[in-house]
Amino acid sequence: MRTAAAPRPRLGSVQLAACAAWTLGGNDNGSMITAAPRLYPHMWSWDTAFISIGLAHLNVDRAVRELETLLAAQWRNGMLPHIVFSEGGGYFPGPERWGAAELNSDAPDAPRTSGICQPPVHAIALRRIVDIGAGAASTARLLAEGWPKLYRWHEWLVRHRDPHGTGMLGIVHGWESGMDNSPRWDDPYSAVVPGQDLPPYVRLDRRVASAAERPSDLEYDRYLWLIEEMRKVRYDAAQVVRTSSFLVGDVFVTAVFALASEVLATLGKESGQPAWQVRQLRGWAHRSRRAVVAAYSPQTGLARDYDRRANRWLTTRTIAGFAPLLCGGLDAEDEAAMLARILGPDWAGHPDLFAAIPPSVSPNDPGFRPREYWRGPVWPVIAWLFGWAFEQRGWTDEASRLRAECLRLTGDGAFGEYYHPLTGEPLGSRHQSWTATVVLDWLHSS
Ligand code: SER
Repeated sequence: MRTAAAPRPRLGSVQLAACAAWTLGGNDNGSMITAAPRLYPHMWSWDTAFISIGLAHLNVDRAVRELETLLAAQWRNGMLPHIVFSEGGGYFPGPERWGAAELNSDAPDAPRTSGICQPPVHAIALRRIVDIGAGAASTARLLAEGWPKLYRWHEWLVRHRDPHGTGMLGIVHGWESGMDNSPRWDDPYSAVVPGQDLPPYVRLDRRVASAAERPSDLEYDRYLWLIEEMRKVRYDAAQVVRTSSFLVGDVFVTAVFALASEVLATLGKESGQPAWQVRQLRGWAHRSRRAVVAAYSPQTGLARDYDRRANRWLTTRTIAGFAPLLCGGLDAEDEAAMLARILGPDWAGHPDLFAAIPPSVSPNDPGFRPREYWRGPVWPVIAWLFGWAFEQRGWTDEASRLRAECLRLTGDGAFGEYYHPLTGEPLGSRHQSWTATVVLDWLHSS
C-alpha cells in the first residue's frame, strides 16, 4: 500500500553539494567530524570511512586527517574501535560506561574509545582517497603510514573474529554489524538475558530522535548487557569470543572484509608493501569469499548469517543477504539471479518505493517496519557500498541507475541517517555526515 508522499524540494547539484559541505562544516568540532550533530556527537569507525570519501572531494588533506584521527585510536592489539570519543558528552553509552582504557591495556588512554568494532570498510575509503587525491603529499603519507595500520586491523579481525579460520567473521554485538537492530539478530538476541546486575542507565538517543525510529528498550537492555559481559572479561578478545552470549558469523561483515582485503592487497602491491602481507591479504579475501558463498541458500536466494551459540543458520531475509554481490564468488547463474533479485520487485524494483533503492528489509516481508532503523528504512551508505561494488564488478549501468535514484532520494539536502522507503521522508538523525559525504561522491561521479 502506497503512503502519500509529501512533496519535497529538490536542490540542484551545486546547491546540494554546498549543503553537504555546510553539513560537514557544522559537524566539525575542531578535532573530528562527528557522525551527526546531536544523536552521534563523536567519531564512529565506519561512518568515518564514508565521511573521508566525500570529504576528499572538498579537501583531501582534511579527508586524510579524518582517517588518521581514527587510525590514531587503534588499539595496541590492532582493533579499530567502533567509537572514538570527542571531549564532549551527549551520547550514551559514553566512555565511562565502556571503561575500555581502565580495563584493557591495549586500549588507548586518549582518545577514549568503545570496546568493540564495526565493519571493515576502511580500505575502500583509502582506495577512494588515494584515487581522488592522487599526487597530494597527504595521500602519499596516508598510504605509507595508514596501510600497515589497516593491515594490522585486518589481521586482528582474522585472529579474534575468526579464531578457527573458517573465513566467516563473527560479531559479538549487533553494533559490530553496523546494522544494530536488524531482524537478522532477533533470534540470537532472544538468548541474551540481561542480569539483575545490569547497572541502571538513561537513554540519550530518545531525547533527540523519535522512539518509533530507534531500537526498543528491551533491545537496549540487551545491548548494554553485552557490554557488561565484555567488561567482566576486561575486553580480552579471546575471552569475549568464548563468553559473550551473542556470537554470530556475520555474512555481510565477512563480504566487506573479503572485498576490503582485496582492495588493501592491491593498494599494498601498488605502493611497495611487503609481498608476503599482500599475499596474506589475498588469502584472507579468498577464504572469506568462500565462506560467503557457502552461506548462500538456494531456497531463499540470499546468503545467511550463522548463529554460533545456537549452532544454526539464520534465514531472516534482509539486505545483508546480498553480501555475495559485494565480494563475488557465486557461480555465474546464481550471481545473475541475485543481481536480478536485488533490482526486482521484492527489493529495489518494488512498485511502492519512493526511489528504486533496496531497503534494509523488503516491503513484502511481514516484519517490514518502514520507519524503524534497520527494520525497513533505506540507508544511503549501504546503497553507496553496493553501487561501488557494482562498479568494480563491471555492472556500470546498474551502478549509475542506483546513483541517480539515491540522488533523487537525498536531493532535498536533509541528509537523513536513513529514509522511509515508501515516502522518501528522512528519518533518524538529520544532517548525518555519512549521508552528506556519499551524496558528494555521487555528485562527483555523475
Ligand atoms: N549505532 C549505535 C547507536 O545507535 C552505536 O553504534 O548508538
